[in-house]
Amino acid sequence: MRQALSLPELAAMKPAGTKIVMVTAYDHPSAQVVEEAGVDVVLVGDSAAMTVLGHDSTVPVGMDEMLMLAAAVRRGLRTPLLVGDMPFGSYERSDEQAVENALRFIKEAGCDAVKLERGGSSVDRAKAIVRAGIPVMGHVGLTPQTATQLGGYKAQGKTAERAAQIADEALALQEAGCFAIVFEAVPAAFTEALMGRMEIPVIGIGAGHDTDGQVLVFHDLLGIFGGHAAKFVKRYANVRQEMVSGVAEYAAEVRSGAFPGPEHIYAIEPSELSEFRAYLGEQRHSEETGTFSHSDWDWGP
Ligand code: KIV
Repeated sequence: MRQALSLPELAAMKPAGTKIVMVTAYDHPSAQVVEEAGVDVVLVGDSAAMTVLGHDSTVPVGMDEMLMLAAAVRRGLRTPLLVGDMPFGSYERSDEQAVENALRFIKEAGCDAVKLERGGSSVDRAKAIVRAGIPVMGHVGLTPQTATQLGGYKAQGKTAERAAQIADEALALQEAGCFAIVFEAVPAAFTEALMGRMEIPVIGIGAGHDTDGQVLVFHDLLGIFGGHAAKFVKRYANVRQEMVSGVAEYAAEVRSGAFPGPEHIYAIEPSELSEFRAYLGEQRHSEETGTFSHSDWDWGP
C-alpha cells in the first residue's frame, strides 16, 4: 500500500528527477479518483469558482466555500499531499489575515499546506504563514486572481522585462520559505532559463517540459468542463460526453417505462400483500362510513 507523501519526500523528488504529478480536486468522488490514480499532490484550487460553482473567474469564491470543498476532498484522500488554494481576498489585507485563513485550511479542512498567488506583498504573506508553521506553495506567471491587472488570461513573461519580474517573484517566494511553486502560462524557454536557480520543486501548467512536475485542472483533463480550454490543457478523456449520454439514456428510459426494470423493484410476500390490500379496502370502507381509525389496525410485529 502507498504511504502518505511527506514534504521531505516531495522535496527529494526534485534532485532524483522524479516528476511530480499534481491535479486539482473539489469534492469527495474526485478525491477518490485521484487517490486511486496515484497522484502526488492534490490542489483544491480556487478554479472551483469556475469548474464547479459556475462563475466566470476565480475571483468570487470565498473562504467558506473553499473550506467546504477542501474538507470533502480530505475525506476522500489518503496518500497525496493536500494543498488548499487561498481565495482572492483571503490573504491580501495583512499577515494576520493570511495566517488566520491559512490556519483554517489546516484545522477545519485538514489540508497539509496552502497556496497563494503572486509575488510582491504575497511574499510577506508567505513568510508569515511559513513562520506560523504552515507549508506554502507559491504561484507566479499567469495568476488568475489578478488576471485583469495582467491584461486577461494570457501567457506571461514574453518580454525580458516581464520575464525578469516573474523570475524575481519566484526567487523571492523561494527565499520566503515556500516548499514548491507553480509556474503558469510562461514560455518554456523562460522556465528552462530559470530552473537552475530554483531549489524548490517547480510545478508547471503551461510552462514547458523543464519543470519538476505538472498540474492540470481535473475537469479540464477529463473533459468535464464545457467551457473554453487554455492552450496548455490536454484532454485525456471526454467524461462530459459520457455523462450527457448517461443522463439522456436515463431520461429516455423513464419516459418509455423501460426504467425501472424488474431487477430494480422490491418484492412483498403475497400474504403480506393481501393483508395490506384488505387494510386499504377496510380503510376505504370506513372512510365512506366514518367508522375506522388508524389505531383499529393491527400493525403486527
Ligand atoms: O486554482 C487552480 O486550479 C490553480 C492551478 C491551475 C494551479 O491554481
